[in-house]
Amino acid sequence: MRLSGRTHFIYTAEEAVLYDTVIEREIPCYHELHRVIRDVFPYDDTIQELRYLELGIGTGNLTKYIIEAHANIRVDGYDISHQMLEIAHSKLQNYSERIQLHCADVFEVSFSNNYHVASIFLCEDQERIFTKDFLSRIYHSLLSKGVFIVCCSAKIPEDSIEYPKTFLNTRLWAVRVLWENSPFMLYEFRKL
Ligand SMILES: C[S@@+](CC[C@H](N)C(=O)[O-])C[C@H]1O[C@@H](n2cnc3c(N)ncnc32)[C@H](O)[C@@H]1O
Repeated sequence: MRLSGRTHFIYTAEEAVLYDTVIEREIPCYHELHRVIRDVFPYDDTIQELRYLELGIGTGNLTKYIIEAHANIRVDGYDISHQMLEIAHSKLQNYSERIQLHCADVFEVSFSNNYHVASIFLCEDQERIFTKDFLSRIYHSLLSKGVFIVCCSAKIPEDSIEYPKTFLNTRLWAVRVLWENSPFMLYEFRKL
């Protein structure tokens, strides 16, 4: 099973079951990526509820890691594959009161507007992240100083970031590269 460069976006039941056994080989530094993402969370135990939007939650590995580190977190997890969500659902059942799973194409739905953190980790269709429509939906879903973390399997070419450039120039976002030590890159956008 190859995760990057896929031409179809929905995991079959068979692929979903295999996912956890092949993922570390398919995504170098998989756990390191999770650690870097977790460390960007604006952890503050005076926040009663830290709201996290995970796009492409898959089998729930990142959410499980984050929720174990933050007692006050509440997660909305989206995935297009109900097979992946079924596995996430059973893996996360001890935290079910703090997690809502949604089966949807993240490029086609609207999100509520109260998140401290959003992240997206898809292996396919990544260029759709850097479009005006999608970025502005994420932007409006975040609270002030909210963080948007993007995990990409390729460095984003400068000239393909059309809308974010304008967006960034308005100083509504700050962006930095969090991680570039593996084929997967992490970018952080922070709402100013
Ligand atoms: C790399 S995997 C899961 C990553 C997961 N966060 C982890 O840490 O293992 C990417 C997931 O994104 C989902 N996905 C791909 N395109 C999607 C879309 N347009 N909308 C929602 N989910 C999508 C896939 O079904 C897959 O479960």
